[in-house]
Amino acid sequence: MGVYQAVYRLALRRLPPEAAHAAGFWLIRFAAAVPFGAWVLRRFLAPRDPLLRVRALGLDFPGPLGLAAGFDKDGHGVAGLAALGFGFVEVGTVTARPQPGNAKPRMFRFPAERALVNRMGFNNAGAAALAARLRSSRGPRPVVGVNIGKTKVVPEDGAVADYVTSARLVADVADYVVVNVSSPNTPGLRDLQAADKLRPLLRAVRAALDEASPRRRVPLLVKIAPDLADADVDAVADLALDLGLDGIIATNTTISRAGLRDSAAVAGAGPGGMSGAPLRGRALEVLRRLHARTGDRLVLIAAGGISSADDALERLAAGATLLQAYTAFIYEGPLWPHRIQAELAGRLRDADLAVP
Ligand SMILES: Cc1cc2nc3c(=O)[nH]c(=O)nc-3n(C[C@H](O)[C@H](O)[C@H](O)COP(=O)(O)O)c2cc1C
Repeated sequence: MGVYQAVYRLALRRLPPEAAHAAGFWLIRFAAAVPFGAWVLRRFLAPRDPLLRVRALGLDFPGPLGLAAGFDKDGHGVAGLAALGFGFVEVGTVTARPQPGNAKPRMFRFPAERALVNRMGFNNAGAAALAARLRSSRGPRPVVGVNIGKTKVVPEDGAVADYVTSARLVADVADYVVVNVSSPNTPGLRDLQAADKLRPLLRAVRAALDEASPRRRVPLLVKIAPDLADADVDAVADLALDLGLDGIIATNTTISRAGLRDSAAVAGAGPGGMSGAPLRGRALEVLRRLHARTGDRLVLIAAGGISSADDALERLAAGATLLQAYTAFIYEGPLWPHRIQAELAGRLRDADLAVP
């Protein structure tokens, strides 16, 4: 273990998870905000190997690995995060109305298994604030996806209108939009994954994006849970094809605790979604199933337990066009995205391959 990793792990252990997240994110934003800071980070860390470039969703990605939703909910640090080596950044989840999220503590580490459990509950400043921030940002902008969810206090029969409000607000600042129906931390949200509920929701969001952005078609994706039964994964895939969606993100966190050994710590953490290494197997399975069903007609973005170049290659081989990670970034630190993209480029070169 290098000095950098030893110091990083020590700092990580000392701080409670959410405070560590805030401090780390502040440092990234600070480094990117000082004169030439973003330039220097980009120069040394951003992906530049032509082998890693991906053209998808009508967009150019410098590398296939992006930052998954939830880390930068309000779009405070997209330039710094991309400068660290992420090929794109998904901001959000934002909701139509600002909301505080669940009571703290709401994020728990399981370092032995490289996993997290969280029940953040979409703490965010609202879709309008995010849109204003992205609109006023200066300098080179990475590909930014915007992930939208339902405001907690809105009842189920108001869900479509709530998502539509967010979609309208972010249409002109989002390179792509994701409808998140898979967080376990908003009561009833995951019920919206059932085809009879999902169809009208996605139709309405598609129409809202077209109306709000008449000159540029905003790509639309849906993000699904790893806890769906196989038949439901197939149903979402069929629906996505039927509605002309652009892609699916597989997967969000799981309500399962399989793979976590410390049952007292599991009980202590309480409810929430588990992410990280123990999610890897099921997330890969869902991806394979989606690819078998849809072939290359949809852009599949793989998320869930990606922590090495081997994981990245495995997802690309299983049909993913793009990749996302969150938990490995927390455990491995700010140099991790650069390392993974560089290792991935090396593997692709050795195998005489290119990303899809
Ligand atoms: C603390 C935390 C907060 C998250 N918040 C969101 C969110 O707001 N919206 C969302 O779609 N996914 C959210 N996720 C899920 C991630 O985007 C990702 O799908 C999941 O963690 C699996 O990837 P990983 O194993 O690389 O972390 C969150 C994950 C974590 C750990």
